[in-house]
Amino acid sequence: EKGTYPHYMLKEMDEQPGVVRKIIQEYSNDAGELAIDEPILKALRDADRIYIIAAGTSYHAGLVGKQYFEKLAGIPVEVHISSEFGYNIPLLSEKPLFIFISQSGETADSRQVLVKVKKLGHPSLTITNVAGSTLSREADYTLLLHAGPEIAVASTKAYVAQLAVLAIAAYVTGKSKGIKSDFDLKTELAIAANAIQSIVDSKEELHKISNEYLSKSRNAFFIGRNIDYYVSLEGALKLKEISYIQAEGFAGGELKHGTIALIEKGTPVFALVTQAPVALNIRGNVKEVVARGANACVISMEGLDEHDDRLVIPKVHPLLTPLVSVVPLQFISYYAALERGCDVDKPRNLAKSVTVE
Ligand code: F6R
Repeated sequence: EKGTYPHYMLKEMDEQPGVVRKIIQEYSNDAGELAIDEPILKALRDADRIYIIAAGTSYHAGLVGKQYFEKLAGIPVEVHISSEFGYNIPLLSEKPLFIFISQSGETADSRQVLVKVKKLGHPSLTITNVAGSTLSREADYTLLLHAGPEIAVASTKAYVAQLAVLAIAAYVTGKSKGIKSDFDLKTELAIAANAIQSIVDSKEELHKISNEYLSKSRNAFFIGRNIDYYVSLEGALKLKEISYIQAEGFAGGELKHGTIALIEKGTPVFALVTQAPVALNIRGNVKEVVARGANACVISMEGLDEHDDRLVIPKVHPLLTPLVSVVPLQFISYYAALERGCDVDKPRNLAKSVTVE
């Protein structure tokens, strides 16, 4: 039930800090340490390569998940859009593990791939919010998101949950392979939950930002580098699906290879600056678009902030910034849709679970 909330989407965005805390709990063992079931851990440890298969927002979570598994567990990862995978199955490694990421667990494009993979005899793991869903039943293993029902068509809390569960799976796998990490993920996830809360609490400011940058726009850009690039893709998808503003997520450095031609006076450009090693480079991209008249909204992380950044998010572990930086983008999209009188929870042409190929 959405209770006093005008929209499920608003309720679900507000729930995000609680979702991260719940996931920490659900994935802690009796000793209070992050853990996943032993058979799943073994499947992850045994894999010489992971193939992540997903669509839409879940695909965007997969892009971040690749970094988690490569950095924390030392396993190479490929991320594939489910509807494309079947046409051109890549050369597979000797011991592949397929991970299906799906909020609903019903996405037909992803299921098609699962059917093929099973025929080939490869192990599969589904990360889903819905216990008993098709992808969960048909895969060898399941990790649940524990995000609670997500009703709004635009996925918000499930994305954040996917990131948290991917981080935990990668971290626990790395630990069990004897890979030393220089941070405690449980502590860092709790810090991220608090950071998300502070953004949720600043929604009035986010409403203002949305009005400032999007009230008159027909298009918008989201840019970032490295992990921020993946969040830019998600920010753009959120905005277009609920407000119908044409939006594109872009790697900061790629802009000048064509797309910068679209920047004109007043074009809104949201830039994420959460990664220290590329902060100067993305700020350089901001200067390039501003010089061409863009209305740039810089969203940076504490410690990397500069005086004229429009929004500064609390400091979190560099790998966990997507859980936090996506939240202002969700709210900005929500308010843009609201201001335009769009049907926020049920955007035109979309369904919550896409059961046709
Ligand atoms: C975007 C959105 C869609 C879904 C996609 C995959 O907000 O909701 O892009 O992410 O249809 O759905 P699942 O995760 O259920 O497989």
